[in-house]
Amino acid sequence: MPDDFEQMWTDLAPVGRSAATTGYFRQPFGAAERECHAWFVEQCRLRGLRVEHDGNGNTVGWWEPVGGIVPRERHHAEPEARADHVGLSGAGAVLTGSHLDSVLDGGAYDGPLGVVSALAAIDVLRDRGFLPGRPVGVAAFAEEEGSRFGLACLGSRLAVGVTGAEQARGLADRDGVRLEDAMAAAGLEPDLGRSGWLDRVGCYLELHVEQGRDLVDREQPVGVASAIWPHGRYRFDFTGEANHAGTTRMEDRHDPMLTYAMTALAANKQARLAGQRATFGRLDVTPNGTNAVPSRVTAWLDARCETEEVLAELVAAIERQACDRADRDGTALTVTAESVSSAVHFDGGLIERLGRGRPVIPTAAGHDAGILATAGVPSAMLFVRNPTGVSHSPEERAEAGDCHAGVQALADALQDLAEEQP
Ligand code: HGY
Ligand code: MN
Ligand code: MN
Repeated sequence: MPDDFEQMWTDLAPVGRSAATTGYFRQPFGAAERECHAWFVEQCRLRGLRVEHDGNGNTVGWWEPVGGIVPRERHHAEPEARADHVGLSGAGAVLTGSHLDSVLDGGAYDGPLGVVSALAAIDVLRDRGFLPGRPVGVAAFAEEEGSRFGLACLGSRLAVGVTGAEQARGLADRDGVRLEDAMAAAGLEPDLGRSGWLDRVGCYLELHVEQGRDLVDREQPVGVASAIWPHGRYRFDFTGEANHAGTTRMEDRHDPMLTYAMTALAANKQARLAGQRATFGRLDVTPNGTNAVPSRVTAWLDARCETEEVLAELVAAIERQACDRADRDGTALTVTAESVSSAVHFDGGLIERLGRGRPVIPTAAGHDAGILATAGVPSAMLFVRNPTGVSHSPEERAEAGDCHAGVQALADALQDLAEEQP
C-alpha cells in the first residue's frame, strides 16, 4: 500500500464523522464537505497538480504533460514551494476521480475511495517514472448523492450541461436554503453553467467501492462496471384531513399516513414481483404530532430497474395503486419525478482495456461516470470489493489489500490511457 494512500485515508477519516453512529455527514457546501475539498486542493498542490474550481462546486486537479512529473523526493515540499504546472491544454485528457460528499450517515468509502485512489495512483505512476503524454485530471464532484438538494450527481450534471442553471436555481434544501446561497455561503462563485474543463476531457475513469456483494461472491478484489440500471427519485405528496387522534372515529378519517403506508407495501410487493428495486427511505409528516391525524405526508420513492421500460411500468403500477388507495381513504396524491437517471452502458473499448480477466458487472447505483457517459464522454468504472456488501451505511467497508489492488489497477489504466500523445 503506497504510504500516501494510508496517510490520505487517515487525514480524511475524522472529517464529518458522527461520534454517535461512526457514519458520515458530508452534505454539499457544508463545513465537512468543504473541508474535504480543501484537503483535496492541498493534496493536489503537494503533487504539483494545477487546481481548477468550476462554477458548480466541482474541484479538478490537473497533472499536465508539460513539465513532466514532480519527482517524489520533492513530493512533500512546502506547498508554496511547488509552482503549479500550467501546461498546454491538450485535447483528450484522461479524467479520473469521484465525489467527496456522502449520504446522511453514510460510509467512508462511497466517493472518497475514488478520489484518494486517484491521487495514490498518480503517486504510483511517479514511482514508475511515468510521464503523461496527455493531461491527467482528478475530479472531486459536488453533490453526487443528491442528499441535500435532491438531484443526484448535481455537480456532474451541471458540468456537462444536462441540468441547466435555471433548474438548479430552483433547488433548495430541507431548510429552504437555495443552492446558490449555499454555494455562496461556502465561499464559491456559482455560475451553474457547463464546466470549461469538460472540453479537454477525452475519457473518464472512476474507481468506486462496490455497493453490493458481487465481488465478494466471485472472490475478486477488483471488478469493472458494465452498466448502470436506470433509476429515479419520485416525490409522493399525500394530503388528507388533520384531525384529533382520539375523538375522530376511524370511519370519519382521511388519513394520508394510511394511504402512504399502503403505498409503501404496494411498492415493496411490486418490486419483488418484478425482480426490481423500490424503496421509500425518506418521509416528511405534517404536523408530525403524536396525537393528531396528519394533514400531509410526503414520501420519496427510490426506484431502480434493469430497463427504462420496466422502471416506467414499476413506477406507474405503484402510482396507480397509491391513487386507488387514496380514493378509498378520501385523500389526494400528487407524484413528482425529482431525479431520473437513464440507463448507462459504459464504453466497450475502455471495458476491454480495463478488463484483464476481471469480472465485468452491472450496478444499480448511480455515479458521476454515468452522467459523463450519458453526455458522450467515453467512461468506465473500476469497483473495489466491499466485504460487507453494505453501502449508504457506516457498515460500508473495503479492505486495505483490496484498496491497494484498486490503486494499482487504476494506475495501470491511467498509464495505458495517458501515455500516448494526443
Ligand atoms: O444513490 C446512488 O445510486 C449513488 O450511490 N449515488
Ligand atoms: Mn458514490
Ligand atoms: Mn452513494
